[in-house]
Amino acid sequence: MTVTATAVAKARAAAPAKIILFGEHFVVYGNPAILASINRRITVTAKKSRDGGKVKIKSDIASGEFDGSTFRLIEGANARATLEPLYYAARQALDDKKQQKGGLEIEIKSDIPYGVGLGSSAAALVATIAAVESLLGRADKKKVCESAIEAEKIIHKNSSGADCFVSTFGGMMHYSKGGGFKKVEAKTKLFLVIGDTGIKHNTGDLVSSVRKLKEANQMAFSGLMSQSRDICNQALAALNSGNTEHLGMLMNENQLLLERLGVSHEKADDLIDVARRAGALGAKITGAGGGGAIIALAASKEDSERIASAIKETGQGAFEVEIDTKGLVLG
Ligand code: MEV
Repeated sequence: MTVTATAVAKARAAAPAKIILFGEHFVVYGNPAILASINRRITVTAKKSRDGGKVKIKSDIASGEFDGSTFRLIEGANARATLEPLYYAARQALDDKKQQKGGLEIEIKSDIPYGVGLGSSAAALVATIAAVESLLGRADKKKVCESAIEAEKIIHKNSSGADCFVSTFGGMMHYSKGGGFKKVEAKTKLFLVIGDTGIKHNTGDLVSSVRKLKEANQMAFSGLMSQSRDICNQALAALNSGNTEHLGMLMNENQLLLERLGVSHEKADDLIDVARRAGALGAKITGAGGGGAIIALAASKEDSERIASAIKETGQGAFEVEIDTKGLVLG
């Protein structure tokens, strides 16, 4: 799908954050996951610069420049891991458009907490690639998504692609590596709350730790895979029939599997407990884990407000989220 067609001096793209409702980690090994984009976004503005061959990136947390061979961090401690995939993606877009000598200035603004499993890396990649491609001619969603998945492999080489798919195409979806994505329509509105442990994680390390566990005990892992698949299937039926109580129960079951994988964290467990005691129908970590964010499902707006307040009372961040339906937006 082509979303713009004319060359411009400045181009903008915005891509949403995501939550994984069911199936994270197991999706890396071909299982299905159910995920959704949410109403938090990264907005990227790309401009051509006269500094031929140089890509400069400035974000809220870091800035740096890359001349094709050398990376120079200007500000933001430990920002290499954040910026490197973005440089790679921007360079790749220049190469694809046969503009190897072109210079770029990229500015990134975000209201997505980063490093906690809400898909900020994927959203930054999707929006950066889309902004650069539309600056240089046109952006094609399918191509943007493929390039973002390729660049994401710098962050962790076993990416399932789920985060990039949902950030590009938006909405709630059933996704698997082999089967691609199918949009899911929830029969009733979902009242969702994010709790942030404040503990940043490294997705690549967590995915590797699960791989080690899988290699050490193939039989046990394949049992967990089959339970996760079953939970996803039941969740799809619960979404289709609007049975939020069952959905919440399945989120709790999914959390038990993530605990078995060793990717939960005591601070996440505490927030899950707070959310459940404040009336959540279900709660679990969302994304890679190891701290990061939790997601809680509430029965009503009043309940979601109460859950968010209860989490904030512990001193941690919390906010209610809506499901985004737009995905990547240009301009
Ligand atoms: C990260 O948001 C989700 C994981 O399942 C990794 C992946 O799908 O690539 C942990």
